[in-house]
Amino acid sequence: MSERIHVGVAWPYANGRLHLGHIAGAYLPADIFARFNRMIGNEVLMVSGSDQHGAPITIRAEKESTTPEAIARKYHALFVDCWGKLGISWDLYTTTGTANHAEVTQDIFLRLLTKGYLYKEAVLQAYCPSCGRFLPDRYVIGMCPNCNSSNARGDECESCGKPLDPIDLGEPRCVLCATEPRFEYSEHFFLKLSALQDQLSAWVNGMSHWRPNVIGATRRFLDEGLRDRAITRDIDWGIAVPLEGYERKRIYVWFEAVIGYLSATKEWAKLQGDDTLWERYWKQEARIFNFIGKDNIFFHTLSWPGTLIAYGGLNLPYDVPSNEFLNIQGQKLSTSRNWAVWVDDYLERYDPDPLRYYLSASMPETQDSDFSWDKFVHRNNDELVGTYGNLAHRVLTFTHRHFGGVVPDPGELDPKSQELLALAEQTLIDVRGALAKCSFREGMRYSMALAQQANRYLDDQAPWKTIKESRHTAGRSLYTVMGVLAALSTMLSPYLPFSSEALHRSLGLGDTLLEQGWQMVRPSPGQALGEAKPLFKKLDESVIEEETARLGT
Ligand code: MF3
Ligand code: ZN
Repeated sequence: MSERIHVGVAWPYANGRLHLGHIAGAYLPADIFARFNRMIGNEVLMVSGSDQHGAPITIRAEKESTTPEAIARKYHALFVDCWGKLGISWDLYTTTGTANHAEVTQDIFLRLLTKGYLYKEAVLQAYCPSCGRFLPDRYVIGMCPNCNSSNARGDECESCGKPLDPIDLGEPRCVLCATEPRFEYSEHFFLKLSALQDQLSAWVNGMSHWRPNVIGATRRFLDEGLRDRAITRDIDWGIAVPLEGYERKRIYVWFEAVIGYLSATKEWAKLQGDDTLWERYWKQEARIFNFIGKDNIFFHTLSWPGTLIAYGGLNLPYDVPSNEFLNIQGQKLSTSRNWAVWVDDYLERYDPDPLRYYLSASMPETQDSDFSWDKFVHRNNDELVGTYGNLAHRVLTFTHRHFGGVVPDPGELDPKSQELLALAEQTLIDVRGALAKCSFREGMRYSMALAQQANRYLDDQAPWKTIKESRHTAGRSLYTVMGVLAALSTMLSPYLPFSSEALHRSLGLGDTLLEQGWQMVRPSPGQALGEAKPLFKKLDESVIEEETARLGT
């Protein structure tokens, strides 16, 4: 039975380049999951877009003496380019800057206001007399009351991690001009999360399929008791508050960005020429998955579901598979210290599948994991090229040379060959089970174990020897490995879409893997093979030093 699956992925701030942490944290797992679900015949919609509001964007614009629009446009274009090259298979990748998104956001705002889930309250807010403006929390810096660090930000202290309020800071100053701000009352709208505590608790209790880290973090917030949160700000960059008298305020980025999951679905529906199609995912039976990094958990498991409950009549997320962090060569990734691998740099120099392979095999699913160029080069050479690529290459080139590029007729299969083909069938089932529950590393492990078994089988069978006495015996081994290769290209295609499709063509199988679906289709005897091109390139050891030298400079 076909299911409807909505895959929404965290909206990246369009204020800087994408790095491997973004990819391992959310975009790759989401893409694997979406591709897998399409292959098993589910109706999938994968959406996201660039988050172009919030202090990260305006701070970057001020640093570069340009406008927030220009920053958002520049990075959005860069992101779109990366997605294409990396094979992230969006059904729609948009931005939070569309008229559609503003409309959907304002509709939710007004409905919550009418239903009594928003209320107004005056709060003390930092105001810089010399800049003549209210300052967002991140624009105020000063001494942390917790650890006495002198450069704590008004929203949180980076050295001790404590969430802060600008008013807590000792000797506060404006990040733009270093003047001491004064604190003035300003009226804001608050989301009544406290009133939603019981409903959210009950809902979370039903989510026993969530990862332990997601459940744990969410329960901690609930145990502390949900506090009402201001969802407007005194800024001029963002979505307007749709009420008279609030022209100088904007809707808070975190209230609005998550609404993108819904607004992007509506935008997609309009692009399909049927404005009601969005309801298939939000009002009818469907499962919504949100792939995010662990720093976004609160907004996806409490604040956004709370907004949805308050609005009424829309589906809540079914799962929020949140990943931990990816470290780089044993150290925390840091964009400001350039301790990061940038996606556009990577794609300029290397192919997408080796990166997808590495990050899938060591995805930070349940704990932080590590990327190093050393391991990258070795895993590429030993595993992708050595175990998988060579297996395909050996069998295909040999068949071209000795069997005229046509799949040999195996006749009756011997027990060893039957056993290997049965293992391939079983692995296809196991990988399916792993992917269905978002266990991406597990699925990759099963696949590579199958490739190893096939190598052992091929070395044992040694068709390059048996061909001298019996073409039939040699042909049977080749036929068998080709069956395994067909299974491998199928189960790896969500992970490694480019090389899987190439192998599928080399095996002379028609259609695309998506059209073929998640099933074992063996090349049939007599069928002509396609060209045998190496699937992966061996990387020179010098890459390790060369790339490591780029880190942190
Ligand atoms: N822009 C945020 C970040 O990069 C993520 C927003 S996720 C969303 O951390 F769903 F709220 F959009
Ligand atoms: Zn100032």
